[in-house]
Amino acid sequence: MKKSLGPKLLGLPAPAWVVGTYGPDEKPNAMTVAWASIFCSAPPCVGLSIGQRHYTHENILARRAFTVNVGSDRYVKEIDYFGLVSGRDADKFSVTGLTPVRSEKVDAPYVAEFPLVLECVVYEEHDAGWTTYFVGEIRDVKADEDVLGENGLPELGKVRPLIYGSGVRQYHCLGDHLAPAYSIGRELETEDN
Ligand SMILES: Cc1cc2nc3c(=O)[nH]c(=O)nc-3n(C[C@H](O)[C@H](O)[C@H](O)COP(=O)(O)O)c2cc1C
Repeated sequence: MKKSLGPKLLGLPAPAWVVGTYGPDEKPNAMTVAWASIFCSAPPCVGLSIGQRHYTHENILARRAFTVNVGSDRYVKEIDYFGLVSGRDADKFSVTGLTPVRSEKVDAPYVAEFPLVLECVVYEEHDAGWTTYFVGEIRDVKADEDVLGENGLPELGKVRPLIYGSGVRQYHCLGDHLAPAYSIGRELETEDN
């Protein structure tokens, strides 16, 4: 029997992505987000829920641009740190030793060491409670060559992104490749039920 847990934010799993922005004096900043996902395909957009008191919120409003950085599981400590401390109080790139690089297409920095980066400009924004949901149009995706598969696209098993469990507040890493998507479900149509 299922137990009712009430209206909690428990859509599992969530990503643990890192949003790159510039502050007023060109200071690069990075902030962790879990309330985030791909938003629409045409134009290609990603959506991020950002608390209005965060330095990142102020930076996105000022520059109308950000990057989404997908880090590998070996950067779990750095990704957590980016979500613990505000860029108003620390230079998070200096503390972590990670490298900010100016994006080619948008006015925001990305994390050089992370294998996958989405460069975005603000497409639209929606205030909800104490957060703003920023929809960013993806202007370019950059990926390290060693995470690309045979079809030239990034593979989960090579990127090794973090998986975040809201509620219990735990990071997990990727397990085994289970099955191909958009095809394994078809087997149900041919199995005898
Ligand atoms: C795993 C994790 C996920 C987080 N997800 C979000 C999120 O989706 N939205 C948000 O506003 N803050 C989120 N936070 C909190 C911010 O990352 C944190 O307050 C950060 O210090 C803000 O940085 P800034 O002030 O430099 O922008 C998350 C923190 C962690 C550790």
